[in-house]
Amino acid sequence: MNYKTCFHLLLALFIPCFVLCMAMTVRNLNSDQFALLEFKDRIGGPQIVLADNWTASTSVCNWIGVSCGILHKRVIALNLTSMNLRGTIPPHLGNLSFLLSLDLSSNHFYGHLPKELGHLHRLRILQLSYNRLNGEIPSWLGNLQRVRRLEMKNNNFTGTIPETLVNMSNLEILNLGFNQLSGQIPSSIFNSTTLEGIELFNNKLEGNLPPITNAPKLEILALWGNKLRGNIPNSISNASMLKILDLEDNLFSGPIPKTLGNLRHLEWFRIMNNNLITGSATDHEWSFLSSLTNCKNLKTIGVSGNPLSGVLPTYIGNLSKSLQYFYASNCELQGIIPMEIGNITNLLLLQLRHNKLSGFIPASIGGLRNLQALDLSSNKLGGHILESLCDLERLYEMYLGLNKLHGSIPSCLGNITSLRYLYLNSNKLSSTIPSTLWNLKDILEIDLSSNHLQNSHAIDVGNLRSLLKLNLSRNLLSGDILSSFGGLQTLVSLDLSNNILHGYIPKSFDGLISLEFLDLCNNNLSGVIPKSLEKLLYLKYFNVSFNRLEGEIPSKGCFSNFSSTSFMKNYALCGPPRLLVPPCKNDIHKNSQMIILHAFRYGLPTIGIVVVLIVLTIMYKRCRRRSTSLPIKDDLLSLITPRRISHAELSRATNGFEESNMLGSGSFGYVYKGRLSDGMEVAIKVITCCSSVDFKALVLAYMSNGNLEKWLHSENCFLDIIQRVDIMIDVAVAIEHLHNGHPTPIIHCDIKPSNILLDEDMVAHVGDCGVAKLLGEGEVMKQTMTLATIGYIAPEFGSVGIVSIKSDIYSYGIVLIETFTKKKPTDNVFVEEESIRHWMERSLPKGAIEIADVDLLRREDEYIVVKANCISSIMELALNCSAELPEERKDMKDVVVELKKIKQRLLNNIQHF
Ligand SMILES: *[C@@H]1O[C@H](CO)[C@@H](O)[C@H](O)[C@H]1NC(C)=O
Ligand SMILES: *[C@@H]1O[C@H](CO)[C@@H](O)[C@H](O)[C@H]1NC(C)=O
Ligand SMILES: *[C@@H]1O[C@H](CO)[C@@H](O)[C@H](O)[C@H]1NC(C)=O
Ligand SMILES: *[C@@H]1O[C@H](CO)[C@@H](O)[C@H](O)[C@H]1NC(C)=O
Ligand SMILES: *[C@@H]1O[C@H](CO)[C@@H](O)[C@H](O)[C@H]1NC(C)=O
Ligand SMILES: *[C@@H]1O[C@H](CO)[C@@H](O)[C@H](O)[C@H]1NC(C)=O
Ligand SMILES: *[C@@H]1O[C@H](CO)[C@@H](O)[C@H](O)[C@H]1NC(C)=O
Repeated sequence: MNYKTCFHLLLALFIPCFVLCMAMTVRNLNSDQFALLEFKDRIGGPQIVLADNWTASTSVCNWIGVSCGILHKRVIALNLTSMNLRGTIPPHLGNLSFLLSLDLSSNHFYGHLPKELGHLHRLRILQLSYNRLNGEIPSWLGNLQRVRRLEMKNNNFTGTIPETLVNMSNLEILNLGFNQLSGQIPSSIFNSTTLEGIELFNNKLEGNLPPITNAPKLEILALWGNKLRGNIPNSISNASMLKILDLEDNLFSGPIPKTLGNLRHLEWFRIMNNNLITGSATDHEWSFLSSLTNCKNLKTIGVSGNPLSGVLPTYIGNLSKSLQYFYASNCELQGIIPMEIGNITNLLLLQLRHNKLSGFIPASIGGLRNLQALDLSSNKLGGHILESLCDLERLYEMYLGLNKLHGSIPSCLGNITSLRYLYLNSNKLSSTIPSTLWNLKDILEIDLSSNHLQNSHAIDVGNLRSLLKLNLSRNLLSGDILSSFGGLQTLVSLDLSNNILHGYIPKSFDGLISLEFLDLCNNNLSGVIPKSLEKLLYLKYFNVSFNRLEGEIPSKGCFSNFSSTSFMKNYALCGPPRLLVPPCKNDIHKNSQMIILHAFRYGLPTIGIVVVLIVLTIMYKRCRRRSTSLPIKDDLLSLITPRRISHAELSRATNGFEESNMLGSGSFGYVYKGRLSDGMEVAIKVITCCSSVDFKALVLAYMSNGNLEKWLHSENCFLDIIQRVDIMIDVAVAIEHLHNGHPTPIIHCDIKPSNILLDEDMVAHVGDCGVAKLLGEGEVMKQTMTLATIGYIAPEFGSVGIVSIKSDIYSYGIVLIETFTKKKPTDNVFVEEESIRHWMERSLPKGAIEIADVDLLRREDEYIVVKANCISSIMELALNCSAELPEERKDMKDVVVELKKIKQRLLNNIQHF
């Protein structure tokens, strides 16, 4: 065979082989293309990138996200991360048989993993994190024996971690965090010579942490946010390469292993929020810290939220110079903060909040020159705030609140220009606030509340261009300082409450354009609430209660959302009824009574009963038919039983205190008509100006015939003599019942015609126990600041504020006089020297005709003599009731008996004629 023949032979062999190879490549290329086009068809979302790019006319190897092998041109990697793809993963991807890496992370894939992916036996990387895949973690994953990285975190996988994962003998990274996995962790994963990272955080895993039998390469063990319990096994020290150990937020208990020191590479040690304790019961020190001093790369120690108790050892200073973060809040730590803490010189954050640490803040903390966050709040630390803290020139947050620090605020704090959060609240600091603080022009939050701080002069906050929150409440700030706050455009929350500030709320407050929270309550502020504050768009909380403000409450803008508690206890604010303040002068109801402002400013006591109702309504139902056998007593009891009614029900009953339900406004507030859920028609009298959290209302049975006041003094009303006697008997019986019908006598305090209500049958009821007083057992008199209505008040009540049941009897006597004379004790003719009672005393001897209501005794009336005698007797009784000295006044029981006799005499005589 010559070489030519040989060549041809070779050629003949090679060509078919080449063609065959080419054909094979093309066919497989087509199957990859087919699989990917199938895939493309199933995914939606704004997938414009793929739509225009993955086209059959171009080679898959040029498609976006696709990589091919250099020689065989098969798809070896598919990386479609973060392409906003939506859909299920089709089984066709299982045909990409040369695939080494599949990354579909950070899309919106949902549904189960198709089992065909289990055919990808060359696969080394499976990255499906940040999707919405669900279903159980499939056990066929164990078939993918070459996979090194299995990452499926942030999906919605359920079920247990399959035991078959042990077959993934090349696995280095297992990340199944943020799923819904439950059950136990298979112990096999801690017997792996390949695993470097086990991240199963934020699932619902239970049971104990299996022993770490073989984990020579394990660097990351992140199991936080599960329900793992039991001890942290000492075998953890077998994972000698461990860098990150995060067991936070589980139910681990028992001692913290002392073997942690074997973990020489440990950088990150977090066991926060478990039930762990220190080494041993006898060991009062944190011995685990001793072992951690061996970990020279340690950056983070987080042990907060474990009932460790014990004290911080002095060898804390031996902790690695690399330590940056030390979290030990909520650990029941006792004792002092050792000064050696100052040796951890690279610390960035020191958090010892909410422990029982006592003693002083060691000066050595000032040596932690890199410190950015210092939180020692909520301990029992005493002493002064040392100037050495001002050396912390990189400090960003200083939280020293809720301790027992006293003395002054060092003025050098104003030199820590990096400071953004300064909390010194709830201590015993007593200096003036150093003006240097107001030089911290980039500070965001300052809370100096609940101390004894003063201000030497105006507070010059004008430079604080970034300030978000300022709380200076509960101090001793005084003077007229508000004007300097107006320019703080970034301020969101301002609390100056509970100081002794005076002066006006400046108009410039409308410049606090970011404000959401403003509390100025409990100061001595006067003047009006500037209407321009309506412009504060974001204001959600506003409180100016307990000041001396007056004038109209702004009603527009943010003010339409504030409730009465924002304004209570001021000097003379007025506004809409909703705010439980009197109406402003120009919209007072024509027929409303004049408001006795003084009674109401200084009068009402600040009794602290929560929400609602006082009592009272119907005291006595007159028996119309004079039948003596009526079960009066039971009737009385059921009617008089006080009950609490919630603000919500009252609000419902009145359609949210709607104006159309308003019957009128009276001396102490507004009266609404409403219907309770049980159907009872009621009048609701809302009483303003009580102590801060209270809402008080009187709920009265609604009386269709109005009150005695109206019947006596209105043009078109007339009561005959028998009606008047009946009414006064009803009233006497009711008062008698108030005084004697309860274990604790009730003093009404405000008996007057407008409080005597008439129902549809003209039966009288004593209403409005607005100022009613309960007398304790055996207590006869009660000192009070309450003022009842002038003219009806007993002398001892008006002058020295002593009330007793005798004061009610006096008032009753006066009403008795008014009822039959139609003269009001408040008439101008009755001045101090000559009260209505003096007038009666003087005039009665002249005969009833001289004094009685002219409509009652007409000369042409055939019964005029009988009636005159009746009225005379009643007036005598009235004088006995209203005797100057309380002890000389008649008892209400006797009054009832006598009145009934007088009535009987009258009826007998009229019938005899
Ligand atoms: C698809 O995208 C790749 C990478 O961006 C690009 O090189 C290729 O030209 C695109 N192909 C088509 C058909 O647009
Ligand atoms: C996929 O591509 C992104 C960048 O586009 C890259 O960060 C990521 O590591 C790639 N995934 C894999 C598994 O290589
Ligand atoms: C690819 O896989 C699908 C489903 O797994 C199968 O039906 C199909 O025949 C395969 N296509 C090719 C070209 O191999
Ligand atoms: C995850 O699954 C649960 C039920 O297992 C479901 O209620 C929840 O909405 C799912 N979350 C997402 C993000 O799909
Ligand atoms: C660890 O795994 C090896 C081989 O995979 C096995 O032989 C050994 O028994 C396992 N050890 C334990 C304690 O499970
Ligand atoms: C610890 O700090 C103190 C000063 O606070 C210093 O004298 C001492 O040498 C330091 N010790 C170590 C081991 O650095
Ligand atoms: C604050 O800093 C200034 C300038 O750096 C310095 O002069 C002053 O002494 C410091 N004040 C305090 C109280 O340390």
